[in-house]
Amino acid sequence: MKVGVLGTGDVGRVLGSGFISRGHEVKIGTRDPGQDKAKAWVAKNGAKASAGTFEETAKFGELIVLATLWEATPTILAMARPESFTGKVVIDATNPLDFSKGIPPRLSIAGDNSAGEEVQRILPAARVVKAFNSIGNAHMVDPKFPGGPPDLFIAGNDEAAKKQVADIAHAFGFPNVVDLGRIEASRYLEALAMVWILEYFRTGNANHAVTMARK
Ligand SMILES: NC(=O)c1ccc[n+]([C@@H]2O[C@H](COP(=O)([O-])OP(=O)(O)OC[C@H]3O[C@@H](n4cnc5c(N)ncnc54)[C@H](OP(=O)(O)O)[C@@H]3O)[C@@H](O)[C@H]2O)c1
Repeated sequence: MKVGVLGTGDVGRVLGSGFISRGHEVKIGTRDPGQDKAKAWVAKNGAKASAGTFEETAKFGELIVLATLWEATPTILAMARPESFTGKVVIDATNPLDFSKGIPPRLSIAGDNSAGEEVQRILPAARVVKAFNSIGNAHMVDPKFPGGPPDLFIAGNDEAAKKQVADIAHAFGFPNVVDLGRIEASRYLEALAMVWILEYFRTGNANHAVTMARK
């Protein structure tokens, strides 16, 4: 499958490499495909890896990963052109973080709205699935924890899209995918990310994951 990963930050690079390691072809999207991070990622990931503009990447992908700084995301989606996403599954890993009052950050959208819902509104013809937003990038592919892999929480309106994302999650090493419902559940998935983030700023390390205990 051809995967377009919008974003050259840690999340885009880690998930992009995850797709390559599972045999997919990945283009990573950026404002400047000639920039160092994009070039280094392509060099490290071999013949199935390439870089492009946000628009080239969105057009390339049969499936899209959105891994962009939240405050730039509406601009990035406009640059990528909403029509590039028609009918496609979009994995939305973003969190609407506001660092303007220092650290830890706060959610800039909360209550009766979420980044996931905003993305679905900006891309009405896409099938948006919130996923990979409530786990640190170090554990997004082949997560290793003493008690076994953590849960991966997802939400979205399209059942077939969620099934595809769950299959990807299984391939990435998450046997337990927890589907919390429609895209509105992003409100709580983004709040769940804050649980992860608060622990990160409290301890200074990223060796944790939020999961659900079961018996
Ligand atoms: N870091 C984590 O472990 C983690 C975990 C879960 C979820 N998340 C969420 O995942 C998303 C990506 O996080 P990240 O840390 O990988 O990367 P990031 O630094 O939040 O975002 C990097 C991407 O945003 C683009 N960007 C930044 N400012 C821009 C601007 N003014 N105009 C256009 N594009 C701009 C960059 O473009 P260029 O490529 O052109 O530089 C780059 O592709 C965020 O929403 C974050 O909250 C992060």
